[in-house]
Amino acid sequence: MTPKRTDAPSTVLVVGAAGTVGRHVALQLTASGTRVRALTRQPDRARQPRYVQGDLLDPASLEAAAHGTDAAFLVWPFATAEGAAGAVKALTGHVGRVVYLSSAAVRDVPGQRSESPGRPDAEIEELIAASGVRHTFLRPHGFAANTLRWAEEIRTEAVVRGFGGAAGLNLIDERDIAAVAVRALVEDGHDGARYVLTGPESPAQAEQVRIIGEAVGRPARWEEIPREAARHRMLDTGWPPAIVDGALDFIHARIAAPEPVTTTVQDVTGHPPRPLQAWAADHAALFR
Ligand SMILES: NC(=O)c1ccc[n+]([C@@H]2O[C@H](COP(=O)([O-])OP(=O)(O)OC[C@H]3O[C@@H](n4cnc5c(N)ncnc54)[C@H](OP(=O)(O)O)[C@@H]3O)[C@@H](O)[C@H]2O)c1
Repeated sequence: MTPKRTDAPSTVLVVGAAGTVGRHVALQLTASGTRVRALTRQPDRARQPRYVQGDLLDPASLEAAAHGTDAAFLVWPFATAEGAAGAVKALTGHVGRVVYLSSAAVRDVPGQRSESPGRPDAEIEELIAASGVRHTFLRPHGFAANTLRWAEEIRTEAVVRGFGGAAGLNLIDERDIAAVAVRALVEDGHDGARYVLTGPESPAQAEQVRIIGEAVGRPARWEEIPREAARHRMLDTGWPPAIVDGALDFIHARIAAPEPVTTTVQDVTGHPPRPLQAWAADHAALFR
């Protein structure tokens, strides 16, 4: 195990502390003995212990929240980077270290900018790096929690209809992303790292549905629909056509070439990432 930093932060500001990943970051930091200050926009939540009210898009509130903290876990839950420069400036005026939940969509091309068309992650990474603050970027692939979009179909019919049942995706358990974040926040040796994070394997989407059905205790199956039908369904939910086509191209490509897996979770935490079976067992109630 990596030794603890001699200058380990005593208080970490956690952005999105009620969110999919931030919730686990806050829990695991607390369990490791690090004080957490959890940012929220919600007045009710802000009255709970450890929470402080603030908004990423209101730099003055962010500065007030960051005052007296040493490090920050940052989530940028928006479709654009608008407002990010102010947020990064407000944070880095107070904290000495930022661990940013970026995305595997960001690619490093030697000598060029990171590329992730249509996503703000690369721009936020650049802002943080340019600020001079010590930083670590987490670049996870798809979250296991993304399978919750099937919850209603599994609950009502035990059938998921979609395109690309044979597409293999390396879903990662959010707790494993949080475990890497905590190491990067409290230990030495992670400055400047860009960690590409995946689960231990890349089950096909149809297999993911089967795994969830098994955990639920009621067999569930995938039913393939043509790409064009899937496209119409996605457009009907309001997704822009370019995003829909990009997502379907991505799934189509993963049929012949399932997503590769990385060993980064194991390398950083000393523990193998959890398989989807473990995530499904712990979240089965959400599909019943
Ligand atoms: N899903 C995937 O497969 C995937 C894969 C790779 C990367 N990512 C990245 O992961 C990030 C999302 O992480 P997540 O799923 O953990 O987030 P999330 O569950 O959507 O949580 C977002 C949190 O952000 C807080 N929030 C929203 N607007 C805010 C604002 N204006 N100021 C302060 N806080 C605000 C909310 O807390 P309050 O309501 O308490 O304020 C909420 O709890 C995105 O950047 C996405 O690109 C996702």
